[in-house]
Amino acid sequence: MTEKQASRTAVLVCQGRAVADGRLAVGRFGDPVAQRFLLDDERAAVERARTGTVPQAMRPRMEYEMLNATAAVLATRTVLIDDAIGDRHTPQLVILGAGLDGRAWRLPDLDDVVVYEVDQPASQQDKRERAGDLTPVAKELCWVPVEFGRDELGPALAAAGHRTDTATTWIWEGVLPYLTAAQVDSTLSAVAACSAPGSRLIATYPLPSRLAAIGRLGMRVYSMLSGDRDPLANEPHISTWTTGEMAAILAGHGWTVTADHDLYEASRTLGIPASRSRFVGDSRVVVADRA
Ligand SMILES: C[S@@+](CC[C@H](N)C(=O)[O-])C[C@H]1O[C@@H](n2cnc3c(N)ncnc32)[C@H](O)[C@@H]1O
Repeated sequence: MTEKQASRTAVLVCQGRAVADGRLAVGRFGDPVAQRFLLDDERAAVERARTGTVPQAMRPRMEYEMLNATAAVLATRTVLIDDAIGDRHTPQLVILGAGLDGRAWRLPDLDDVVVYEVDQPASQQDKRERAGDLTPVAKELCWVPVEFGRDELGPALAAAGHRTDTATTWIWEGVLPYLTAAQVDSTLSAVAACSAPGSRLIATYPLPSRLAAIGRLGMRVYSMLSGDRDPLANEPHISTWTTGEMAAILAGHGWTVTADHDLYEASRTLGIPASRSRFVGDSRVVVADRA
């Protein structure tokens, strides 16, 4: 992703949450805030995807399928992550690569938590414009523009008020596929240096998957054929991990993996229809703790 552009994948996953809201995993998932971050044309696409009627023409059908598949992934991983946040309440929450994450506006349990949103500067500026005067429910929301692998995360967080002597929950959702191994390693080093005992790291990561690669190719073809913006044009997926590799990397940075969820199994447990849940099988949610 270039410095000057805000993330398009952040918009896509926000649309996924908006499509899922009130339709998938009802009672376990809900994100009424998501649509507040969307621009008019993005919200119109969400409304088309929520009709439940599969369009016949190719272009609207591909948009419908892409957004509904994204919705299944997002509803599932959001439930797993929100549960992991709730299970270990900490006074600080850092959202790495926050995109259009709405937790600081959505989760009432954060009313005594200081939330730090870290993102690549252009993406963060875009989020701030979209958020406008929407009031967070979090105790405090701090903006921390940082590009992983280029900027120093620790000093940027410290300047924003983050405390290294207080436990932190870290969320790294939907970001790892876009990073190199070196960017992941340097970020984990900074995170480790800022994590007091009792901290928790929650991350999603993609498994090596030929099916998922074909799915992304389909998305790109759809974008080319339809003339729509390709969300992956500037944000190619470049990294995958096996569960063993992920556990080893986290252990190397002082974390103990306490859960590693298969998204497909979780989506079935949540009652997400099989026609949708098949799209979620290539990624996992790992939860790791610091004693
Ligand atoms: C798919 S979006 C996920 C956004 C959010 N975490 C969510 O799940 O809704 C990917 C996010 O990673 C951020 N990102 C990608 N590469 C980055 C980098 N090198 N430094 C900082 N942020 C980055 C993008 O700006 C974008 O917000």
